[in-house]
Amino acid sequence: MTRQFPAGFLWGAAASAFQTEGAAAIDGRGPTVWDDFTRAPGKIRNGDTADVACDFYHRYPEDIALMKGLGLGAFRLSTAWSRILPSGRGTVNPLGLDFYDRVIDLMLHEGIEPWICLHHWDMPSPIEADGGWRNRDCARWFADYAAIVGRHFGDRVKRFVPINEPNVIPWVAYNVGRHAPGRQSREDTVKAIHHINLAHGLTIQAVRAEAPGAEAGNIVSLGPVHPAVDDEAHRAVLPLAECIWRRVMVDPLWLGTYPEPLATEIEPHIAEGDMAVIRQPLDFFGLNHYNRVYVAPTDTTMWGLIERVPPPGYPLTDVNWRIDPSALVEQIEDVGSRYGHPPIYITEGGCAFPDALRPDRSVHDPDRIAYFADYFTALAGAIENGADVRGYFAWSLMDNFEWNSGFTKRFGLVYTDYPTLQRIPKSSYYWMRGVIAKNAVIP
Ligand code: NOJ
Repeated sequence: MTRQFPAGFLWGAAASAFQTEGAAAIDGRGPTVWDDFTRAPGKIRNGDTADVACDFYHRYPEDIALMKGLGLGAFRLSTAWSRILPSGRGTVNPLGLDFYDRVIDLMLHEGIEPWICLHHWDMPSPIEADGGWRNRDCARWFADYAAIVGRHFGDRVKRFVPINEPNVIPWVAYNVGRHAPGRQSREDTVKAIHHINLAHGLTIQAVRAEAPGAEAGNIVSLGPVHPAVDDEAHRAVLPLAECIWRRVMVDPLWLGTYPEPLATEIEPHIAEGDMAVIRQPLDFFGLNHYNRVYVAPTDTTMWGLIERVPPPGYPLTDVNWRIDPSALVEQIEDVGSRYGHPPIYITEGGCAFPDALRPDRSVHDPDRIAYFADYFTALAGAIENGADVRGYFAWSLMDNFEWNSGFTKRFGLVYTDYPTLQRIPKSSYYWMRGVIAKNAVIP
């Protein structure tokens, strides 16, 4: 059955600076925690670095042509803090601003709306050396950078978001320690939680002051949380898992409060007025959704929690995430009812599969087409039932640097042939083009 999306539904794709740009040491870009992390032995599959990545820095005209060919109304990218401020604060690097000017101007010329995320995890190394998110001052340094971006691009960019998936930082970077900066200290995590939230609030204020006509929102990765095994020990870690993963980086922004069981622990770090700063009016809720999250108790992580693969029997993507469109619908309902029915954009959704380049240099990815068809069908149904979802951004336009997995996991609609950097649209790209053209999914 054909599922039609509402008129004006925004079709987009998303990517981030560190994962695509490359040009790591070009035109004055400063080092970041992820540059450092990729150089530490054993952190990234195959020892991959993102020094070149997709070379979006030089090949963006070709990539914008691919966006246009797909029919995208919007593209979500991030600006690299260390390209604009190589030390994280102090002197602005005009070449960094020039690069994003070129990208943004070409996108606008092609009728593609740029959505700018100010931070997609690539914190400048000198800021980390000064304590990073553990240091309360970091929130102010980040907002100062945001003000520069807002001032410079606010005449052209109409959607800003401070920090991509802030909830991944406490969970993955500070609990499991798998992401940069790879810490494992409970006290540091608690500080980071509050300082990231404070940075969000200060940044929204800065963007509103510098780019008065623009909209601003948050972007968080959410999915229902379940015990990996249905027993008492697993159920016992649910409240903490739910709090860290789903609530602690969202409730303060939308409700002005911290949830238990973490609220009491965060309390000593809250200065007078902080909660009002954090709770700024937001124009939209950016929901990244991939999966239901299965958790288990463990003594190998600081918080005693870990994410596990789903119980046997479920279909999975190449990164072991469960394929289940009903989770997206549940998550949309949870956001709506808990946060007062804000306009929602699905700011990321997608799947990794082991796509292979055929001898004729084509790539066929029927699994990805089936995935999107099922998720879009469910999403259209949710919208028909009243959910206020206004757009969908596919992750990602092209295969890129997938953090710890390096280049081994492919999420793109376009295949990146890393040895040649050639871009090869997959069959899902052509399928998606049809969805966007018709504003409908025909399963
Ligand atoms: C969420 C992150 O924002 C993005 O950087 C990552 O590549 C995708 N999920 C897929 O894991």
